[in-house]
Amino acid sequence: MSDPVVLLADRFRHALVAAFGPEHAGVDPAIRPSTHADYQANVALGLAKALKRPPRDVASAIVSALDRGDAVAEVEIAGPGFINVTLTSSLLSRELARVAATEGAGLEHAAEPERVVIDYSSPNVAKEMHVGHLRSTVIGDALARVFEALGHTVLRQNHLGDWGTPFGMLLEHLTDGGADANGQSIADLNAFYQAARAKFDADPVFAERARQRVVKLQAGDESTLALWRTLVEASRHHFNALYRLLGVTLTDADIAGESLFNPMLPEVIAELEAKGQCVLDDGAKCVFVPGYVGRDDKPLPLIAQKQDGGYGYATTDLAAIRYRLATLRANRILYVVGAPQTQHLAMIRDAASQAGWLVPPARAEHVAFGSVLGADGKVLRTRAGANVKLVELLEEGVERAAAIVREKNPELTDEERSRIARAVGIGAIKYADLSSDRVKDYVFDWSRMLAFDGNTAPYLQYAYARICSILRRADESAPASAIAVSTPEERALALAVLAFPTVVVDVAASLAPHRLCGYLYALATTFSAFYERCPVLKAATPEERRSRLALSAVTAQVLARGLDLLGIEAPEKM
Ligand code: ARG
Repeated sequence: MSDPVVLLADRFRHALVAAFGPEHAGVDPAIRPSTHADYQANVALGLAKALKRPPRDVASAIVSALDRGDAVAEVEIAGPGFINVTLTSSLLSRELARVAATEGAGLEHAAEPERVVIDYSSPNVAKEMHVGHLRSTVIGDALARVFEALGHTVLRQNHLGDWGTPFGMLLEHLTDGGADANGQSIADLNAFYQAARAKFDADPVFAERARQRVVKLQAGDESTLALWRTLVEASRHHFNALYRLLGVTLTDADIAGESLFNPMLPEVIAELEAKGQCVLDDGAKCVFVPGYVGRDDKPLPLIAQKQDGGYGYATTDLAAIRYRLATLRANRILYVVGAPQTQHLAMIRDAASQAGWLVPPARAEHVAFGSVLGADGKVLRTRAGANVKLVELLEEGVERAAAIVREKNPELTDEERSRIARAVGIGAIKYADLSSDRVKDYVFDWSRMLAFDGNTAPYLQYAYARICSILRRADESAPASAIAVSTPEERALALAVLAFPTVVVDVAASLAPHRLCGYLYALATTFSAFYERCPVLKAATPEERRSRLALSAVTAQVLARGLDLLGIEAPEKM
């Protein structure tokens, strides 16, 4: 425990029970940071209503029952019955020392670790990744890092679109003269996809060949599979290059594409049929889950097998959820997928419950997100109206950052500058995505995301580098005997630093990385206020100097750890 709010909440819960009886053990003491004191508990008013007693009386009963120990310095009842609490400086010093002494900046492992499947990135083979895949990749990776930091087992599942009907036309096009596409880069394959598509639409003979090819692929025909592997390999190469540039933790070991589930599809359908949950409808095998209706007001099915015997996206997702629960033994499944797939994923979840695969406390959640918009408020596209290629976007970010870094610090070596530009450019793009409420759309805006002020990656990276520079200049070898929390600015900074673990736990519960961004931004501005008012290098006494240096160092530790959880690098120099 390093966040004092946890300790305080605990003491308040005890006080509630002591004052009003065990039936109040579950009441949330509602303790929040406050401008009047360190924290304010807003519990007396609600309780007073339930107990039919005057709120201030209830508040004073709580205060009398509160065990202050060496933690609570002052308690005061304010207004209609708020309870303001000021902590002792010694408690804050002690907790800061604990954070400073540990690697994880105060994070602790969950008491009950879970096995968390995170389905993210999941691009499609033989198509270049575009900006639409950016959000899934960035948000999914941040969540993976957060869950791991809290001691959960994270099973990354990159659900590649590497199977299905489009491969018919792609493979036929490949045999047509594209056979030398071996080793071709995916940039060419993007054109390749469009050429195949055009032929498929224009030429009925080609279209028929493509359909036959799908049948061969499904049947496991060896020469067809060899062609298929060519395409998958080239795509994987492209994805991996992007993941490296982006600083994303996905590896080949995390690939669990649609093709993985192909052999399982017949048995999944057989099981659902045996349970009476997969029925013939218009010649197709369908799974109906209550509560979903189509445009025609008729019950909407998940199509498990089409009339022609083919399987689709839904079949694969049914097999995938079963595999994740039964084989991977997941307690929690997170689908980091765009909002347009909400209904599909809800139906998959409900079908899995109906089939008895998804049994509480295991749960499956859709971590939906909105679109990336251009300045015109429409989905981001190039001037020609095409999807923006992710690689080009990232490279532009790094270039723009290089220009800014050169201007800010001309003294850097070329090598330093390119490393910093990468961290800033990529960090800015990722942070802009993570810092906006994920369910909403956001406008992609270079000048805002690269600004050195406001809630941006460069601001936080700069704040971190500035503290590193202070620590370098201080050249202090003697450790502080303790971090003294004396001035209001020191106190505000101490409370901000200590709140870190609670914020990370909240991000894991709410699946809202933007809350971590908001916290880090507040921490950085709190540090600025401290640094303005409290001389560090020129502190009044050597002991005060050492104490303030140690407080600065622990702030830097939290900033870097927080950025790392978001997948953002924090260079020590900028
Ligand atoms: N490949 C899909 C797409 O690009 C996303 C897959 C998401 N995951 C899933 N299990 N359906 O839209």
